[in-house]
Amino acid sequence: MDEGKQTRIIQVDPENPDIEKIRIAADVISMGKLVAFPTETVYGLGADAFNSEAVENIFIAKGRPSDNPLIVHIARREDIKALTSHSPSVADVLISQFWPGPLTLIFPRSPQVPDPVTSGLSTVAIRMPDHIIALALIEEAGTPIAAPSANISGKPSTTTASHVIEDLFGRVDIIVDGGQPFLGVESTVLDITTPVPTLLRPGGIPIEELRRVLGRVDVDLKIDDSLDSPPRSPGMKYKHYSPNAELILVEGKDKWRKVQQLASKLRGQGKAVGIMATSENAGKYKSSYVAMVGSEKDLSGIAANLFSTLRKFDEKGMDVVIAESVSEQGLGFAVMNRLRKAANKIISSDFGVGI
Ligand code: TXA
Ligand code: MG
Repeated sequence: MDEGKQTRIIQVDPENPDIEKIRIAADVISMGKLVAFPTETVYGLGADAFNSEAVENIFIAKGRPSDNPLIVHIARREDIKALTSHSPSVADVLISQFWPGPLTLIFPRSPQVPDPVTSGLSTVAIRMPDHIIALALIEEAGTPIAAPSANISGKPSTTTASHVIEDLFGRVDIIVDGGQPFLGVESTVLDITTPVPTLLRPGGIPIEELRRVLGRVDVDLKIDDSLDSPPRSPGMKYKHYSPNAELILVEGKDKWRKVQQLASKLRGQGKAVGIMATSENAGKYKSSYVAMVGSEKDLSGIAANLFSTLRKFDEKGMDVVIAESVSEQGLGFAVMNRLRKAANKIISSDFGVGI
């Protein structure tokens, strides 16, 4: 692993971005190098989408399996043409409603897209981010930018520049520090190559909003890599978003009692126990490290804090983290999807006490 790269950190004010600084980063993209940058969802780790070798270096920098394809980020609607063989008719209404924004669409791929971007699939994932720095970077680079989330593979995505630095310093050429992405969870991934549009990953655009526009939307969140058929969104089969600590997710009614019981039991076994709690329940937990993720009534607040809260438990050296579940409505669907994928164990408070 090349951890010997000189990484330059460039601060850009998202309220009033200095275009000269963005040009420095854009030139580095044009040279086939790697730039971490903010989007409205999470930080991305970008390279010129038409430069095969540069894209391969993204996989090396993240330690990402090569069969997990990347999202191509564009700044103008017409950029789709060079990336796709055709655009399904449903794309128009989705693009006019949700772009720029946290919706990634899966299109049939053009042969011009280098193989490493799509991991050899016949489709390509495209989105237009709703972030002034990301859009300016793509414009100035004059090329679409392929970018996964800017974290070491398997770790929680990054929502602060300091987390990007923690994971990627020495592995990328530039980190653009543009403050905190405002959503905190990644984009929704929607396959529009199927007769009925199919949700492959819940994210920043809630499924309720997609159904309002499209009527029917199917859901396929296959995460079981023991299945013979490959998962539709290859990234979904890997364990993800995980802190180093073991993560136990508690779902069901009255979950705080179950969380409290579990915490005492694990502390009795000598473990350092952290609890990820909603503000409604945080005060009920005794003698464990408690990190508040937000109010149950504000799922967008919980989404915004989710990944940085998960990282806090590692900073505090916890052995086990017990997380409360939240509602699956709106952004809660994305939050619960990430928690389930990060969890080593999922238990329901509706059954017995043992684990
Ligand atoms: O918000 C986001 O989407 C962030 C920011 C940086 O844009 N990016 C992001 O990228 O989350 P990544 O690589 O961490 O997740 C991309 C997801 C993976 O689950 C991947 O398998 C899926 O999109 N994907 C990419 N290309 C695909 C394709 N052709 N077909 C199906 N799924 C695809
Ligand atoms: Mg990711």
